[in-house]
Order: sequence, then C-alpha cells, then structure tokens
Amino acid sequence: MAIKKNIKKQLEQRIESQKIIVIHGPNLNMLGAREPDKYGTVTLTDINKGLVKLGEKLGVIVDTFQSNHEGLIVDKIQDASLNYDGVIINPAAYTHTSIAVRDALLLLKVPIIEIHLSNIFKREPFRHKSMISDIATGTLCGFGHLGYYMALEAISSLLKK
Ligand code: DQA
Repeated sequence: MAIKKNIKKQLEQRIESQKIIVIHGPNLNMLGAREPDKYGTVTLTDINKGLVKLGEKLGVIVDTFQSNHEGLIVDKIQDASLNYDGVIINPAAYTHTSIAVRDALLLLKVPIIEIHLSNIFKREPFRHKSMISDIATGTLCGFGHLGYYMALEAISSLLKK
C-alpha cells in the first residue's frame, strides 16, 4: 500500500514538475576517454547522474539523451517541443555544421541553453562558428562538466521567473 502511494506521489510530482531535457551530440558518449586534456576525465554517465541529482534539488525533472546521429537529435528536439519546458544542448561537432539541428531548435518556444565543455573560441577557427548561438537563450563554454550544472541552474531560474 505504502509503495503504491509512493509511486502515485512520484507520478504526480512528475506531472507537476517542469521537465528539462539535456541533449548530448556525437562522441560525447566517449567522455572520460576522449581527449581528456580538452574534455576532462568525467564520464557522460557521471555528468547525467549529477544533473538528475541537481534537478531533484532544484525541483525540476531532468531527462538526458545522447546520440551520434543527427536525425535522432532532430527527432529528440521535435519531441522536446511537445514534452519539455527547457532544453540544454551540446550538439558537439553538429554545432558547427548542422542546419537541421538549428531548424529543429527554431520549433521550440522554451528556453534553450547551448553548452560546450571546451572554450570553442580558444580552439581551431572552424569551431568558432556555432549554428545555434544566435537562437539560443544563452551559451556557456569552457567550464568543463561544471558548465552542465551551471546551465541547469540557469534554466531552472529562468523557468521560475
Ligand atoms: C564540444 C566542442 C565541439 O567543437 C566538439 O566537436 C565536440 C565537443 C565541447 O563540448 O567542447 O565534440 O561541443
């Protein structure tokens, strides 16, 4: 009985709480092993766990998604337009190339935070151009994995306003 009540309460909270989706682009599943001098040693699993935990503290539901495929990222953004109150996205290499990701983000009427672990402006010139910075609510880069937590704090404050 107590378990049923608990599940009901959790479901009710999930319906009432604001929901944030964090979308990670290609090769971010390799964090920890991938160029640690640039991206750090923390794995994506640990970042995602940290985001869910911080979400609980902030009173928002955090779901996470990673794909190496542009179309699947577009599908997730389209899904976000129906099911989420805010989007945090690191499109990784698609940041610099994807009109499809940009067009999908243009569907959204909710806050969008663009985030990068590395400072893309300190790196090769081809990384200086983002296809989405001008349509994002805000952009964070160069703070490593901590940037994800800053982004979640920021989007949660924006949603509370
Ligand atoms: C990145 C920066 C991109 O240029 C790169 O292609 C990535 C990761 C970052 O988080 O610093 O894959 O988005």
